[in-house]
Amino acid sequence: MKVLIIGAGGREDAIMWKVKQNPKVEKVYKMTSNDIFEIRDFALNEKIDLTIVGSEELLVKGIVDEFKKVDLRIFGPNKEAAMLEGSKDFAKEFMKKHGISTASYESFTEKEKADEYIKKNGKYPIVIKASGLAAGKGVIIAENEKEALKAISDIMEDKAFGTAGDIVVIEEFLKGVEMSILSITDTNIILPFKSAKDHKKISEGEKGLNTGGMGVISPNPYHNEWVEKEFVEKILNPTLEGLKKDNMDFAGIIFFGLMITEDGVYLLEYNMRMGDPETQCLLPLMESDLVSVIDAALDKKLSETEIKWKDEHSCCVVAASLGYPEKYEKGKEITGIENVSEDTQVFLAGVKVENGKYYTNGGRVLNVVAQAKTREEAIEKVYRELEKISFEGKYLRKDIGKIY
Ligand code: AMP
Ligand code: GLY
Repeated sequence: MKVLIIGAGGREDAIMWKVKQNPKVEKVYKMTSNDIFEIRDFALNEKIDLTIVGSEELLVKGIVDEFKKVDLRIFGPNKEAAMLEGSKDFAKEFMKKHGISTASYESFTEKEKADEYIKKNGKYPIVIKASGLAAGKGVIIAENEKEALKAISDIMEDKAFGTAGDIVVIEEFLKGVEMSILSITDTNIILPFKSAKDHKKISEGEKGLNTGGMGVISPNPYHNEWVEKEFVEKILNPTLEGLKKDNMDFAGIIFFGLMITEDGVYLLEYNMRMGDPETQCLLPLMESDLVSVIDAALDKKLSETEIKWKDEHSCCVVAASLGYPEKYEKGKEITGIENVSEDTQVFLAGVKVENGKYYTNGGRVLNVVAQAKTREEAIEKVYRELEKISFEGKYLRKDIGKIY
């Protein structure tokens, strides 16, 4: 069996590591391209048996639909279902229509109407979102009217996020702790993965600029029976019913971005692909074979499948280049990867390999992931192993997995 993975970050490295554990897999290809037809032709020429797409852009552009036209097997949502990530307005409407627990909101296509709403609303903080894909940057939490009006002007007038800002979603601010739950669906059933907690800010104590994610702990320390019940009854089950009622038919991942508040669990967003770095943290906990689970979803047999998980905690810490997410240097030699203990995973993200040597080549350079019986042990182990890896300007957060 030949598998093609689209993308070249830490998430795709983790998917490759897991896919390779299936004895039927002879070859795994990785490809980065924004051209659906180039990827399709490669898959046809190489007779790829299964394609897995890492990030959202190609899904939203309709890669799954194009692959299906030529009978290529691909895992992920079609263009319509990918809109649940590609358009926040579409996603919020879906949530509202199907009674899914989410923050109250209004959508606007005209700046004047949005301004008017803000001037009348007067409750702060308030959340202002560009509806389209904005690489995780299109959400602004405004603390007062001035900031809110500026955000609207930046998005709708100055087009800070291009056409992603043609529609603006203005949303009630929810106070709580965030939780990521990935899941797999064949649109007959949704099987959730273990819960996780991403740490998105660059600095310790959740301070500073937003990043693509600096580390993840699983299970999420705030996950408990009440949270699980809230999630399943108010979010997971109605999402599945909604997919069925709206005749959405696909096999893919649904990543629920959740907020646990004092009065319940709310859905902030859907991502229709695996999370980065959630995937790096979660796949080592998955006992089941990933290719078999994906095959079951594609064959609409998920209801006959059980995903087995290790009864352990996993901690993923990102080693980044100093200066990320702003300016940073590249090309620093990375040493010591070979000294990392065999039961700890190193997934490469922004790394270039030349003559058998590793060099930094991006902001988030690599992920080290460790598992143990307790959260504390997993955290201790991952930081111990990370010390073995060196490169100039190595930056990491020391508080991944910590509860505040
Ligand atoms: P989103 O892309 O919609 O998940 O938003 C990105 C981030 O903005 C989330 O991970 C939250 O940290 C924050 N956020 C989004 N919506 C809300 C909300 N309604 N209340 C509070 N924080 C939010
Ligand atoms: N870790 C958040 C994301 O993948 O969008």
